[in-house]
Amino acid sequence: MIVAIVGSIHMDFYIRLPKLPVPGETVLGHGFTMLPGGKGANQAVACSRLGAYTYMVGRVGNDIFGEKLIENFRKNNVDTKYIEVDKTTHTGIAFILLDEKTGENMITVAPGADYNVSAKDVDNAMDAISRSDILLLQLEIPIDTVVYAAKRAWEKGVRVILNPAPAASLPDEIYRYIHVLTPNRVEASLLTNINIESREDAVKAGKLLIDKGVDYVIITLGAEGSMVISKDFVRHIPAYKVEVVDTTGAGDAFNAALAVSLAEGKDIVEACRIANAAAALQITKLGAQSGLPTREELEEFLRKHRQ
Ligand code: RIB
Repeated sequence: MIVAIVGSIHMDFYIRLPKLPVPGETVLGHGFTMLPGGKGANQAVACSRLGAYTYMVGRVGNDIFGEKLIENFRKNNVDTKYIEVDKTTHTGIAFILLDEKTGENMITVAPGADYNVSAKDVDNAMDAISRSDILLLQLEIPIDTVVYAAKRAWEKGVRVILNPAPAASLPDEIYRYIHVLTPNRVEASLLTNINIESREDAVKAGKLLIDKGVDYVIITLGAEGSMVISKDFVRHIPAYKVEVVDTTGAGDAFNAALAVSLAEGKDIVEACRIANAAAALQITKLGAQSGLPTREELEEFLRKHRQ
């Protein structure tokens, strides 16, 4: 199995808080820590831990964070050949406020080098992308680069998964290149103008996205599980119940496990069930990558929690 990711690479700055602030409010926290993050990077590390040969395509700045993050990829056996060190700006940074009671967060990102990831970077990595079973994309790099990468992969017959996070609208052109689109409730609402409050709303939104040209839509609904929607069927896949420490990276674990499962030939419903399990494991630890399961851990979890 080979998965390529074109996306963001961040250093995440965490503060744990008794409650999240409202605008204008200062809340005293504790437990400051820096951990590797970025949706692209998290998904790459997750794919590698699950046993896929993984290419990361992206950029870091010429600074200590970039060095540490490349070291982290190497430790996790991610191929770093297509990561550029960008001398013009800083490595992408995220500030994460974590509510230690609920595990919910607030995140803000200074993209830095992420926003210089270009069509040229995609062209340079086309050898790797063409060889991949799946190309995995998110929205923390310029949208033009996302569209270009999706198009080039599609032309080569490589299946594209787009995780449309953080929420943003998409150009109509991109839908036809996408095999699976994986919005959460908020992202799906933004893409379709349908306010998603129930499973029925999710199905309506999913069908609309299918009509735009996507093969499958999976709308993730947090504790309520996921809806798999295609032209021919709709399935609800329940979530696994775990003790939540930090929800950061749940979507990344989900998308990576989905990519690896589809790469190894699982059908979309089974792949979604496995992805739900990976997301459940990820949220049991602090940090966007700390809870990303190895293949053995994921298989063990699935054995214990047969649905
Ligand atoms: O999906 C979680 C990630 O979003 C964090 O690691 C942070 O860097 C932001 O990009």
